[in-house]
Amino acid sequence: MTSTARPSMDDATWWRHAVVYQVYPRSFADSDGDGMGDIPGLITRLDYLADLGVDAIWISPFYTSPLHDGGYDVADYRSIDERLGTLADVDVLIAQAHERGIRILMDIVPNHTSSEHRWFKELLESEPGSPAWDRYVVREGTGADRETPPNNWRSVFHGRGWSRIRTADGTPTGYWYLHIFDTTQPDVNWQNADVHEEFISTLRFWFDRGIDGFRIDVAHGLVKEEGLPDFDYPEDTDDATPPMFDEDVAHAPFWDQDGVHDIYREWRAVADEYDPPRVFCGETWVPNAERLARYQRPDELHTSFNFSYLEAGWDASAMRSSIDETIANHARVGAPPTWVLSNHDVIRHRTRMAPVGADGERDLERGLRRARAATVFTLALPGSMYLYQGEELGLPEVTDLPPEARQDPAWHRSGGTDGTRDGCRVPIPWSGDSPSYGFGPGSESWLPQPPVWADLSVERERGVDGSTWEMYRQALALRRAEPALGEGPLEWLDHDGDVLVIRRTSPDGSSVVAVLNLTDGVVRLPAHWGTEVLVSSGDDVAVMSIDEGGSFIALGAETAAWLRG
Ligand code: GLC
Repeated sequence: MTSTARPSMDDATWWRHAVVYQVYPRSFADSDGDGMGDIPGLITRLDYLADLGVDAIWISPFYTSPLHDGGYDVADYRSIDERLGTLADVDVLIAQAHERGIRILMDIVPNHTSSEHRWFKELLESEPGSPAWDRYVVREGTGADRETPPNNWRSVFHGRGWSRIRTADGTPTGYWYLHIFDTTQPDVNWQNADVHEEFISTLRFWFDRGIDGFRIDVAHGLVKEEGLPDFDYPEDTDDATPPMFDEDVAHAPFWDQDGVHDIYREWRAVADEYDPPRVFCGETWVPNAERLARYQRPDELHTSFNFSYLEAGWDASAMRSSIDETIANHARVGAPPTWVLSNHDVIRHRTRMAPVGADGERDLERGLRRARAATVFTLALPGSMYLYQGEELGLPEVTDLPPEARQDPAWHRSGGTDGTRDGCRVPIPWSGDSPSYGFGPGSESWLPQPPVWADLSVERERGVDGSTWEMYRQALALRRAEPALGEGPLEWLDHDGDVLVIRRTSPDGSSVVAVLNLTDGVVRLPAHWGTEVLVSSGDDVAVMSIDEGGSFIALGAETAAWLRG
């Protein structure tokens, strides 16, 4: 095995095989006790991240924002929300992360601004048709008084996708602005030259400060179909619009339009001017792996999230098809795939994968078992992997937040029937037996933490054999040290039933076999796949001998392992 030394910071290909840890800054670490995580808090936890063994962190937005959508409503792309820190803090963060060999990806939100952005304020203060109006998607309404929205598009957060522009005294005008998300998130007009210039200079602003790249929010949404035609919504959807990642709406005229690729060609040229080149990862909810790979053509984004794998759930054939299609389509454009199981928009994978018992409740113990197994197996796939803060502790989704605590705009816009994204954003536990479980110096946290956090804190798990944290740390260290993992070929090995088996082989011939047993029984694996267990997600994996001589590996139910011969 080669050394576990961190890859050099000069390695321009780091993103092809990196493990990237997503920090949702409001919920990661609070330095000042106001109940909201902040950048100084994150800086104090960099050693933790280095110890866990991640290559990079992606930080959800920390710009100045009214926080109507957790910071994805940006009022100023070049200043820091004062509750989260200062520009000077970000400079320290970049320097200190780099000292530890950790790269920094920020989050850019180019589909919409906050309605508190200076551009939108300018629009409200100027006459229809003035240049300020052209920076947003604004149209006249229909009907005698133009009181009907320009088309039937709905908001991802429920309700209609248009709001009427009002004069300073509140009188409605005949003009409407588009907001595919919340009413406080007007969509910008990517046919306007100011928009192009502004975002390019924002990219440069941050690249010049030393960040390594950006995750691009709603990367597939920036361009809208010419003429803004009505969308034929699937019949079973009414006002409760399916979320943007629902396959039924993936063909909507506001998603995945061909023109979006021109923007990324422009951005790629800017990123390539830097040394080392800066990188992009797109948030792209698209219908299939072929459409996804288009974003990774050589002059566009480096990587994009591959949500088909996340959506495959705990299902052997869905996982396998997602893996095959993703790898094949990415290979055509020479790009590495990415894999992700949890993020700040979806139910944590421990809960998502938990089977529902006869009592109608999710079995979270099995959920944890499956989540751990899925993680171990996924970390053996070729390409890069994104982890979401707290999954290394095995945190479940918090499903019983009181309505008054909820902040997800979709919760409010749907009348409490949707908008469950707060449950994965609860501040994470570091130590102690009572709130805020070491998240901050006091007991405050912007979303209430459940009592179960006491048993799932970093303090409880770090250094404890068999803990989820130790499993992650061990797998990450092995992955970094093992030349067969990261980028490179993948070969399927056959096994009956719901058991996925892959072999990864390095150019020097060393290989690792990764097995995921999705069944609820022990499975028998031939010894020639390897009898050395490098890492496993559970302790029921054993080498057994048989009477006639020889041996096999017995791998427990819902367990994954990496083996070497
Ligand atoms: C992305 C973000 C999500 C946000 C939305 C609107 O999907 O991940 O959190 O609400 O875009 O910006």
